[in-house]
Amino acid sequence: MLLNGQPSRTLWPAAAQDAVTVLDQRALPHRIESVVLHTVDDAVHAIAEMVVRGAPLIGVTAAYGLALQARVDASDAALERAASQLKSTRPTAVNLAWAVDRMLAQLLQRKPMDREATAWTVAAQLADDDAAVNERLGVHGVTLLRSLAQRTPGRPLNVLTHCNAGWLATVDWGTALSPIYHAQAQGLRVHVWVDETRPRNQGASLTAFELREQGVPHTVIADNAGGHLMQRGQVDAVIVGCDRVTGCGDVANKIGTYLKALAAHDCGVPFWVAMPLSTLDRSLRDGMAEIRIEERSAREVTHLTGRTRDGTTVEVQLVPDGTQACNPAFDVTPARLVTGLITERGVVPATREGIAGLFEERRPGAH
Ligand code: MRU
Repeated sequence: MLLNGQPSRTLWPAAAQDAVTVLDQRALPHRIESVVLHTVDDAVHAIAEMVVRGAPLIGVTAAYGLALQARVDASDAALERAASQLKSTRPTAVNLAWAVDRMLAQLLQRKPMDREATAWTVAAQLADDDAAVNERLGVHGVTLLRSLAQRTPGRPLNVLTHCNAGWLATVDWGTALSPIYHAQAQGLRVHVWVDETRPRNQGASLTAFELREQGVPHTVIADNAGGHLMQRGQVDAVIVGCDRVTGCGDVANKIGTYLKALAAHDCGVPFWVAMPLSTLDRSLRDGMAEIRIEERSAREVTHLTGRTRDGTTVEVQLVPDGTQACNPAFDVTPARLVTGLITERGVVPATREGIAGLFEERRPGAH
């Protein structure tokens, strides 16, 4: 997608295959900066500290982390150690373990001397696949928007989204925002309500940034405003991303997603989840009981970072001295509140049967 008017991805490997550059999401929206990762420890740090974030992007970054490890020591023990270090950085998004396990499976079956070259090839393939999959999500998702727009002639379609599930959370295109970018390209008028998404404000800082870069009309709202807008008929659909979806369709996503789903259900607003198959965890049945929710630092709740009038970035304290805070980073929306899952293979109900249908033998020529 566009960054400063130029097509860009969120990460790009060095031609010499000795480093990977990532867009530093901590600096956005006020500064466009990048960070160069030279070692697996750099990749671990980038994921843990949210230099990169978003389920698909942390998976691809971790894949390159293993490639960086393979440069210096490609023994079984070193790769397995690096893999478990990478996987332990963030527990909720399954894409991380998915990408690391795929890399490891490919590498361990090769001779150590061949592993470095293989690692860079497989990581690049994962990055390309992520971009292609997200583009397909958009192709399927935009058909939903088109049919909704037929019921709202003469005005833009209002879509609400939570957190950042745009191209910044992936290699390219994004998941929840991909249908919106396709709609824009097809001349369908869309306006996006952007939840600010406390405590890290991925909506206010990242979603608003990337929608502005692409020229998509949008309005940032406080997290608590969505239900009110839905009651007033000002939201035609909600589309969110996801970090782990169970085989029954329960959806883990950024904290606050569940409340939006409840409000959407109460107001009869469709609530769609954009889900690349790399985010599906079919080993789980009950999302509420089984998905591990990442607990992040209390400081993300007690403090806020922003730009002052003179352009400097500062952190300020919001709460009285000594106040305790609790910071679950994700929540689980039960499948019954999800209207449908938008996948690269089409839109399916958030049910065991709907998900199983994605894996039935594909007809020749079907996507
Ligand atoms: O904590 P983050 O910013 O990594 O959380 C990101 C989200 O919850 C996204 O909605 C999710 O990963 C989908 S990204 C396409």
